Amino acid sequence: MTEWDRNDPASYDAAARGTAELEVSGTDIIGPVVRDGLTSTPKTLPPFLFYDAVGSGLFEKITKLPEYYPTRVERSILESRAGEIARMAISHAGRNVSVLELGAGSATKTQVLLRALVAEQGATTFLPADVSGAALDAAESRLARELPEVKVHPLLAAHPQALAAGRERDDALLVVFLGSSLGNYDEHSAIELLADIRATLGPTGSLLLGTDAVKPLDVLLPAYDDSKGVTASFNKNVLARINRELGGGFDLDRFGHVAVWNEELSRIEMHLESSVDQVVPIDDLGLEVAFEAKERIHTESSYKYDTARLDRMFSQAGLARECEFYDPEHWFRLTMARPA
Ligand code: TRP
Repeated sequence: MTEWDRNDPASYDAAARGTAELEVSGTDIIGPVVRDGLTSTPKTLPPFLFYDAVGSGLFEKITKLPEYYPTRVERSILESRAGEIARMAISHAGRNVSVLELGAGSATKTQVLLRALVAEQGATTFLPADVSGAALDAAESRLARELPEVKVHPLLAAHPQALAAGRERDDALLVVFLGSSLGNYDEHSAIELLADIRATLGPTGSLLLGTDAVKPLDVLLPAYDDSKGVTASFNKNVLARINRELGGGFDLDRFGHVAVWNEELSRIEMHLESSVDQVVPIDDLGLEVAFEAKERIHTESSYKYDTARLDRMFSQAGLARECEFYDPEHWFRLTMARPA
């Protein structure tokens, strides 16, 4: 009975404290997180801060940039393999399946899969979970128009709450987690999340996971540092947000967007780098944050996996890979997995 009421902030406020992944704002929620991050060494800010209304809009723009291959390539894989994926999930369940999607956004990619499920089983139920109410509204109204055979139950929820809601249902579930979002978690947290997904699948469920592959740096880096500076604006929006919501005094011209490849950890890292020695007040927190020139705030990681590493993570989470699908260049993969 954990369906989160999207019109009732109180119902997801508690979730936000636990997971820091909701479309939430104000000193109460983001204050402690910002204080912790900017008073630790090295300084960090958690990625969920990106996704306020401004940041969600900028991310939509990123997904349409020529340099940002993941969205485009993942969609193309779905377009060619959705039928197989749907049949695999149905045959494993032995009955009709419903789709629970973590971080569904506006669910344009998932619509391809939903259409394939409708073709196989006549109708389906879709539980899109997201921290952005606006994105869920967009998904719901577009699907009502374009694919009325799909019954939509939006969940304004962070991943743990969404998975808990899934566990309360009797449906055979296909849990969908796209966009290489798993890669935004450190390995330990990623395995925990996979284990939580596994617990939600029960014996009849399947997972469809989209992850990014290791590839040449001249492709990887521009995806996180585009020529129009949209990604830079997206990264800097966390500082703008602190200015808006916490009375912060960040001068956005005194911070640079930096994207680097960390070879040892196989991840892209995004940082905000102070160009000068400076002290930034954050009035609502009664805080003054000192930066040295070149000091960085780590805002996001995006891990790139090979199949062997993913398989190890699956096995530690009680999952087993069933098969994987690639684009012709092997830039991105969709993996079907189920409880081991
Ligand atoms: N899951 C996306 C990724 O790792 C998130 C993302 C893409 C992102 N571009 C970004 C996050 C830029 C922060 C900044 O690719």
